Amino acid sequence: MITNPFLDPDRQGELYGNDARLASRSTALMRARTEGRPVPEVIVQLAQTHRAGADRRLGLAADIGCGRGTSTRVLAEQLKPQRLLGIDASPALVAAARRRAGHHPGTQLTFLQGDFHHLPLVDTSCELAVAAFCLYHSPEPGRAIAEIARALAPGGIAVLVTKALDSYKELDALVAAGLDPHAARHESLYATAHGGNLADLANPAMDVLAVEHEEHRFEFSGLDHVAEYLATNPKYDLAPGLYGNPGALAAALHEWHADKPIATTSVITYVVARSERGQA
Ligand SMILES: C[S@@+](CC[C@H](N)C(=O)[O-])C[C@H]1O[C@@H](n2cnc3c(N)ncnc32)[C@H](O)[C@@H]1O
Repeated sequence: MITNPFLDPDRQGELYGNDARLASRSTALMRARTEGRPVPEVIVQLAQTHRAGADRRLGLAADIGCGRGTSTRVLAEQLKPQRLLGIDASPALVAAARRRAGHHPGTQLTFLQGDFHHLPLVDTSCELAVAAFCLYHSPEPGRAIAEIARALAPGGIAVLVTKALDSYKELDALVAAGLDPHAARHESLYATAHGGNLADLANPAMDVLAVEHEEHRFEFSGLDHVAEYLATNPKYDLAPGLYGNPGALAAALHEWHADKPIATTSVITYVVARSERGQA
């Protein structure tokens, strides 16, 4: 039996079957962030720093596991590649990304449904591949990374991004009191691809050029705010009616806790790696 919901194929529809869940989760978390650079901007900076021939215009770039296309838009705006492909397993998120894409003169922007274990990219075609916050959905992320390496052009780079295993552990403690006594004992959602193993996962298929860790700090304004984020967290065993229902979860939290700001952290890890085929 698969106990980690991020790895359970039967739960992907619940997680990514419509864009509203991801939007409300991300919005609640971003409203709480007090420290930490915006991830898409860091990806752009890393690409600019490490890409061979960075003065040449970028040809094909791919945003793998692009979700609602938030980072895809930033890549289009700031890197202006000739072609940019957003790829995601969820048809609903591909449709949302397409809707939100905006207009980027000079960049041919396409969104496709696809699986990062079998990328819809020909060998050695891609000069930049980004995979942010998605590899931990694979039971074998090394396979997905090998697939990214296959698609990279000579000298092309990948920017892989994930979170630390113990991200948001203060929220486990909050939920453990009264709602799910085992909250802190569930496997981390990031168990297969996290800050501690991402570079090692990349190493067999690519040359790792840089690894950066940055702590992001969050302060939720109170129990109602944290409930907006926690209600979509599949990690916990909550009483019926609480999961997916921020109002009901907030009411349950109010029964167990005094209302006050709630602080938590997550260390974000960026791995920049180059195709072993070497420089262009
Ligand atoms: C947390 S979202 C991250 C979205 C985006 N990269 C970001 O940084 O905001 C994870 C995404 O990975 C996608 N995903 C999960 N398994 C996948 C797979 N096997 N192939 C492609 N995408 C996948 C999900 O559909 C979801 O959109």
